[in-house]
Amino acid sequence: MKIVGTIAEMRALCRSAKSGGKRLGLVPTMGALHEGHLSLVRAAKEKTDVIATSIFVNPTQFGPTEDFSRYPRALEKDCAILWREGVEFVFAPAVEEMYPAGAVTWVTVGGLSDRLCGKSRPGHFRGVATVVAKLFHIIEPDAAFFGQKDAAQHAIIRKMVRDLDMPVAIEVCPIVREADGLALSSRNAYLNAEERKSALVLYRSLQCAQELFRTGERNSAKLIAAARQEFASESNVRLDYFEIVNPDSLEPVLDTSSPSLAAVAAYVGNTRLIDNIVLGA
Ligand code: PAF
Repeated sequence: MKIVGTIAEMRALCRSAKSGGKRLGLVPTMGALHEGHLSLVRAAKEKTDVIATSIFVNPTQFGPTEDFSRYPRALEKDCAILWREGVEFVFAPAVEEMYPAGAVTWVTVGGLSDRLCGKSRPGHFRGVATVVAKLFHIIEPDAAFFGQKDAAQHAIIRKMVRDLDMPVAIEVCPIVREADGLALSSRNAYLNAEERKSALVLYRSLQCAQELFRTGERNSAKLIAAARQEFASESNVRLDYFEIVNPDSLEPVLDTSSPSLAAVAAYVGNTRLIDNIVLGA
């Protein structure tokens, strides 16, 4: 496995790995890897011939008061894990390599970038779309693998790829959960024991909406109201949003007769967590 820090070397290695018709799969990450990431690597192994993973804590997708500086970083441990998984290339550039001084060009996916997490994290999806576009240009993958947990993120990336004719297939893999339902996230590491228990309210609220949906309720407002009730008893959890939206446009839907994304974000203590479920999938 090669660990690469420069764009020039990564581009050259990936181009030569693809010569002879091999398909290259990319798993973009910010590191602090968990089973959710590994499920992406394993999906990439099934669908492509050579795997590249990027590990880059991307500063442009964090707001000024967010957790960029304390985001968990574990490059050595991550590389050992990726080596065991059979990954060929790890791209781990420095911030200055990805964003040379004076860089002013951004990718903004109009409309979608301001929905769901984009509302409370202004600029977040612009940072995500920009770094992912850069990774696609550097690595030139045939397919890139993203988790369903960041449902808005993959909707935005799918739209960017369509709008800008990027020759890469976007593959979305299911959410990986702990036995009690908590969606895996690198940010779960911030939670203390009490917060860890409270964090289950996100999944509970989604299950509540899903149960009501199963009984035949299709009215989004009623599903949302029931789901929001779950948060009433959690004093150290602050709900950011619970929304039901179209999974592609991320626009709110009034009726859930066609598959709809129920998405939730909440602060558990100071930790912002997200989760979602597709109703009627
Ligand atoms: O999902 C993530 O870890 C990040 O948003 C991504 C896609 C690697 C871009 O920095």
